[in-house]
Order: sequence, then C-alpha cells, then structure tokens
Amino acid sequence: MNATILFLVVLYLFSTNADPGKSNTIEVREWENNLIKDELSCINSTGVSLNVIERTKVTLELPEDDPKYKEYLKCFYTKRGYQNDSGEVLYDNIKIMIHQFTNATEATRIIDLCKETKGTTPEENAFVAQKCLLNLFHPKTEEEEKTQE
Ligand SMILES: *[C@@H]1O[C@H](CO)[C@@H](O)[C@H](O)[C@H]1NC(C)=O
Ligand SMILES: *[C@@H]1O[C@H](CO)[C@@H](O)[C@H](O)[C@H]1NC(C)=O
Ligand SMILES: *[C@@H]1O[C@H](CO)[C@@H](O)[C@H](O)[C@H]1NC(C)=O
Repeated sequence: MNATILFLVVLYLFSTNADPGKSNTIEVREWENNLIKDELSCINSTGVSLNVIERTKVTLELPEDDPKYKEYLKCFYTKRGYQNDSGEVLYDNIKIMIHQFTNATEATRIIDLCKETKGTTPEENAFVAQKCLLNLFHPKTEEEEKTQE
C-alpha cells in the first residue's frame, strides 16, 4: 500500500459499497473519481485552503485550529455517508469501510474506541472521529509492503 492509497484509505474513507480489494480497475477509478468530486465540492463550499488539505496528506496530521478544515471534514463525512444531518458520526458505516482493509476483530476494536470520542459540534464530531481513526488505523507501512514484494 503506497502513501497515496494509505492516505485515501485513512483520510478519505472508502465509500461503503466499494471494495477496492476485489474491484477491477474501472470500479476503482470510478470510486476515485467520486472521491475527488466530493473532495473538490467540499473544498469549494467550505473555502478550506488547498495547502492545508495537501499538508494533511503528507503529514497525516490534522490541523487543530482550523475551523474551515473541520467544516470541510464535516462536509466530506456527510457526503460519504459517515455523518448524518444531525451531525452524528455513523460509525456503523465507517466500520463497513474499515473492515475492507482489516479483519472484523480489528475493525470492531477501532470503532469501539473511536465511538467514545465526541465533539461539541458536528464539525468537531467529524474532526475527533477522523483523528481517532487516523491514530488507530495503521495499514501496512511502505517498508512492510516492500518486504512482501
Ligand atoms: C464552487 O461553488 C460555487 C458557488 O457555490 C459554484 O458556482 C461553482 O461552480 C463551484 N465550483 C466548483 C469547481 O465546484
Ligand atoms: C443521526 O443519528 C443519531 C444517532 O444514531 C440519531 O439519533 C438521529 O436521529 C440521526 N439524525 C438524523 C437526521 O438522521
Ligand atoms: C486481525 O488484525 C490485527 C491487526 O492487523 C491482527 O493483529 C490480528 O492478529 C488479526 N486477527 C485475526 C483473527 O486475524
């Protein structure tokens, strides 16, 4: 799993009906296109800085004090079906996504831990959820990937 895919998996969260592990190239491309469409749409509607978005992709660290970034996350979570209109994070949907990349035990462990985190606003809810998932979900590193090739 290279850094880009890692980023896509962790930060963007796969749509619940996509299964890149089994999909053919066309389906993956369609999934990526939708992802990019949702990303662009949320960047546009929230006015978040592109630099901020790009930086999170490199560092995998989320900006703590950027309200626009949190708005962006809420927008993205909502579009992907990971947050409902009340601002509640829909962990069952996130779990389905995570389970595509790890086993059920691990998916349950991650979700049960992240479920405990909660913000005071819908934007904070998305932010703390994303931060928690990012911290707990560690797909194979590039090093590990290399040793398997
Ligand atoms: C960005 O948003 C504006 C206003 O909401 C819209 O007119 C424009 O088409 C959008 N651009 C993109 C690239 O989505
Ligand atoms: C959002 O989810 C929460 C928790 O599941 C639920 O109580 C609430 O009614 C939902 N809101 C909407 C608008 O679906
Ligand atoms: C599930 O995945 C975790 C994390 O990769 C691993 O430590 C664990 O051994 C796996 N459990 C089973 C039953 O495969």
